[in-house]
Amino acid sequence: MENNRRPESMARITTKALADSFIKEQVAALKAQVGDKKVLLALSGGVDSSVVAALLIKAIGKQLVCVHVNHGLLRKGEPEQVVEVFRNQMKANLVYVDAVDRFLGKLEGVADPEKKRKIIGAEFIRVFEEEARKLDGIEFLAQGTIYPDIIESKGVKAHHNVGGLPDDLKFELVEPLRFLYKDEVRVVGSALGLPDGMVYRQPFPGPGLGVRCLGAITRDRLEAVRESDAILREEFAKNGLEGKVWQYFTAVPDFKSVGVKDGARTFAFPVIIRAVNTKDAMTATIEEIPYKLLKHITERITTEVKGVNRVLYDLTPKPSGTIEWE
Ligand code: XMP
Repeated sequence: MENNRRPESMARITTKALADSFIKEQVAALKAQVGDKKVLLALSGGVDSSVVAALLIKAIGKQLVCVHVNHGLLRKGEPEQVVEVFRNQMKANLVYVDAVDRFLGKLEGVADPEKKRKIIGAEFIRVFEEEARKLDGIEFLAQGTIYPDIIESKGVKAHHNVGGLPDDLKFELVEPLRFLYKDEVRVVGSALGLPDGMVYRQPFPGPGLGVRCLGAITRDRLEAVRESDAILREEFAKNGLEGKVWQYFTAVPDFKSVGVKDGARTFAFPVIIRAVNTKDAMTATIEEIPYKLLKHITERITTEVKGVNRVLYDLTPKPSGTIEWE
């Protein structure tokens, strides 16, 4: 990449009017760069890739081919939302790849967190590569690189799973958000008509629920993570904590404990709740969730989530704990 510095003259995008003029400029620039060629994009449904998709759909419509890989480690409702927003509402050219069995097969029996991350990243590239090879006439690869990615990791998107494509699949890059900070990306996303739930969502790691289903991933515990996370998010939204807390999620460890239900002994998994605040994710403090709400969430999780009989609340700041458990 030649010019890696944000132009000094570039105003901070804080309003819809400023976002609209950025969008207008970028649409013209993207049309000029791409012409009548096709652009490929890995669309995870995260903020950055979603905003890139919406911008490119506006600029070049069906010349953009979005590939959404469902690796089975997304949160409840996410793959459905990607299809609804991009295919149904924005009329995007979207290839949906159901790779759930494939990812879970590769991850079977793997307990080491870094090995899990490597498998998920490598498999993602493989699936994306296979889809890219099925398509004709692609000349460009769009990426949701944003300015902090350039500053912090010299142009390689931190934690980004795309990249590492083989040499014969090296496309010219299209990176329309490369000079934007995260808050600006969100303002642009809203101006493009993306739903708030997509634009203002909390950070979510690339390996997704894979690092929250602790140890070797099993389908029953993965579903327990997904369902308990959905309950936590629903309750945070209902109780005004959604936009207030930086990151909140559940994790399910790979051990069971004894409990009791309807007078009978149970032997089931616990769910751990984590809710933290931070500025830069290097250190973090604990959100003091009202006790009454914690009790309500506990009751919902233990009654609604299969295979769970206990709920624990993680009180550890970072340091000494990291934000994620793996
Ligand atoms: P930790 O757990 O290191 O997390 O305190 C700091 C922030 O980084 C996120 N995180 C990841 N993001 N791929 C990602 O894209 C990863 O492998 C990964 N691990 C941690 C974490 O969710 C938190 O926001």
